[in-house]
Amino acid sequence: MKATRITELFGIKYPIIAGGMVWCSGWRLASAVSNAGGLGLIGAGSMHPETLAEHIDKMKAATDKPWGVNLPLMYPEIDKIVELIINKGVKIVFTSAGSPSKLTAKFHEAGIKVVHVIANSKFARKCEEAGVDAIVAEGFEAGGHNGREELTTMTLIPQIRKATSLPLLAAGGITSGNAILAAMALGADGVQIGTLFALSEESSASIAFKQHCLNLGESDTMLALKKISPTRLVKNALYERIKEAEDRGADADELRTILGTNAAKRGIFEGDIENGEMEIGQAVAGIHEIKPVSLIMKELVDEYDKTLQTLR
Ligand SMILES: Cc1cc2nc3c(=O)[nH]c(=O)nc-3n(C[C@H](O)[C@H](O)[C@H](O)COP(=O)(O)O)c2cc1C
Repeated sequence: MKATRITELFGIKYPIIAGGMVWCSGWRLASAVSNAGGLGLIGAGSMHPETLAEHIDKMKAATDKPWGVNLPLMYPEIDKIVELIINKGVKIVFTSAGSPSKLTAKFHEAGIKVVHVIANSKFARKCEEAGVDAIVAEGFEAGGHNGREELTTMTLIPQIRKATSLPLLAAGGITSGNAILAAMALGADGVQIGTLFALSEESSASIAFKQHCLNLGESDTMLALKKISPTRLVKNALYERIKEAEDRGADADELRTILGTNAAKRGIFEGDIENGEMEIGQAVAGIHEIKPVSLIMKELVDEYDKTLQTLR
């Protein structure tokens, strides 16, 4: 797999980033990805400041390779987390779910590289104005919170490539070396992968969540909750209650009540398969085994290299 602007920007071997994922991306998953030549991100979105501090310390002990932290900007204790990230000497931050102008300058002043996640060209241009170092463009096949316009990765990446010259990571639906190659052919400089790593051995998601996801097909997830924050959900009992409410025009407050507290924690971390919020991407349909990160990374790189040869 070739060096790109992304491998140069972060000082990594392969242009493969493991997206920060609530309840999955602790120091174990992030350090395994970094040690295998990619860039691991700690997912701060599900961590209190004390928990994040602990994960950062363990991360420093587990790898001497580059790594970063993902910070969703709607985070309730954001000021505390920002100070913590700066004081702990984190070098790379991926911000998501908010405006790129919010924290980029502050992180840059502290010598931190900033990457922002977007889902359309308008926000790509805002990222350029805000001076971010790179962007992740995420199609709505992706697991987690998604763009409300429902743009697919295949449609999005060429548009973003035209809209900005920033180093570009493609995300959404990528689970193979072939898909990485396709993303690069469309103009990406690397990829951010979530779903595949969420189901790895090192992910902190519960075994019940992982096992359930391994048996899902291509139609078993849907985008829901546009009135709160568009999220791709596994079709389970909770999803059916949300869908029924959305179909009759329920407002955001009612949807929040149906979700209840800690819905993602219940689904992903505690393995409440039917009544928890189960976040995973469409590409889950192709994953049938829990594997260690080292093997996943090797398979991605080997397939990419092999297919590249056949295309020459
Ligand atoms: C379980 C799960 C939780 C996620 N949590 C976050 C998060 O906290 N912050 C974020 O920016 N993206 C989050 N994502 C999105 C991923 O970082 C990544 O961009 C996305 O999964 C890529 O698409 P894929 O799932 O098709 O690989 C999450 C994805 C999953 C599957």
